[in-house]
Amino acid sequence: MDLTHRPRRLRQDRVRGLVSETSLEPADFIAPVFVDATTDERRPIETMPGHERVPIDEAVARVEDVLETGVEAVMLFGIPESKDPEGTRAWAEDGVVQEATRRITSETDAYVITDVCLCEYTDHGHCGPLEEELRAEDGVAEGSPACEPTLTVDNDATLEALDRIAVSHAEAGADMIAPSGMMDGMVAAIREGLDREGFEHVPIMSYAAKYESAFYGPFRDAADGAPAFGNRRHYQMDPANAREAMREVRLDVEQGADVLMVKPALPYLDIVSGLRREFDHPIAAYNVSGEYAMLHAASEKGWLDLEDVARESLLSIKRAGADLILTYFAEDVARQLPDRN
Ligand code: PBG
Repeated sequence: MDLTHRPRRLRQDRVRGLVSETSLEPADFIAPVFVDATTDERRPIETMPGHERVPIDEAVARVEDVLETGVEAVMLFGIPESKDPEGTRAWAEDGVVQEATRRITSETDAYVITDVCLCEYTDHGHCGPLEEELRAEDGVAEGSPACEPTLTVDNDATLEALDRIAVSHAEAGADMIAPSGMMDGMVAAIREGLDREGFEHVPIMSYAAKYESAFYGPFRDAADGAPAFGNRRHYQMDPANAREAMREVRLDVEQGADVLMVKPALPYLDIVSGLRREFDHPIAAYNVSGEYAMLHAASEKGWLDLEDVARESLLSIKRAGADLILTYFAEDVARQLPDRN
């Protein structure tokens, strides 16, 4: 055989590491943490094995466990003690995220990122206060079923709320603010609010391309944030669209986003790599609850090796171009590194 090119030469054990193009570090990961103001004990999340909602009193202990694995950043989600149509507990000074943030930032070195959205705080579960969308005005024939007024999220009223929430998180000590509601103009509104109140140094990680995905199912149980009616199609992106993601992201860049996030991760790696080519900002990807749950379910059946598929998933996300990965596997994979890179 006269084979000049034998790529297998570089796949031998002793050289693989030298030529490896991608590696994972615990410092790449952000671990989601659920803080629950409705309970004083830890509650396992059934659809997300290994994760639990912790009461405010246990938030510091939970974050210390994360830090132990080498992961340095957490993303806080809150479950408030009560909900109302406007989601007013989202910006309360003594709200669940505000209180947890104060404790975590004063008692640990964790880098605290807070999710800024209203869906866990509104009683209808949508990402902002509602308004009627009158189809008749759009020229739909009188009497047709499409003429029924439907409810949608009031974009501009939501922006005012997001400004207040972001400022209340920063006042509590949040290191980074992560708006996830897909409202038009949300990054500008939050940047203005933070700057006005003297938080120019607090970066914004925008969930810039967030799709209306069925992979969020388990999270909605975890955070108690499922919409009471309808879906989030009128604000989250259509899974069919890739060019629209570029447009969304460009708008967030113009409004001052510091980090750009794609969500979900694995079914949207084309979007991650597209952003990587187009923008110089750090790119984050959210390996969401459904991506976590499906690997767990298959491994429970003995069909997949959980450690291996978890690590391979995160490696793929990084290879596609993500710098930061928000993942429920953060602690598990961090524990496997560095010997398994
Ligand atoms: C809501 C929010 C969602 C997730 C994070 N923030 C769910 C949604 O839009 O319904 C999902 C995360 C996951 O599935 O892990 N603002």
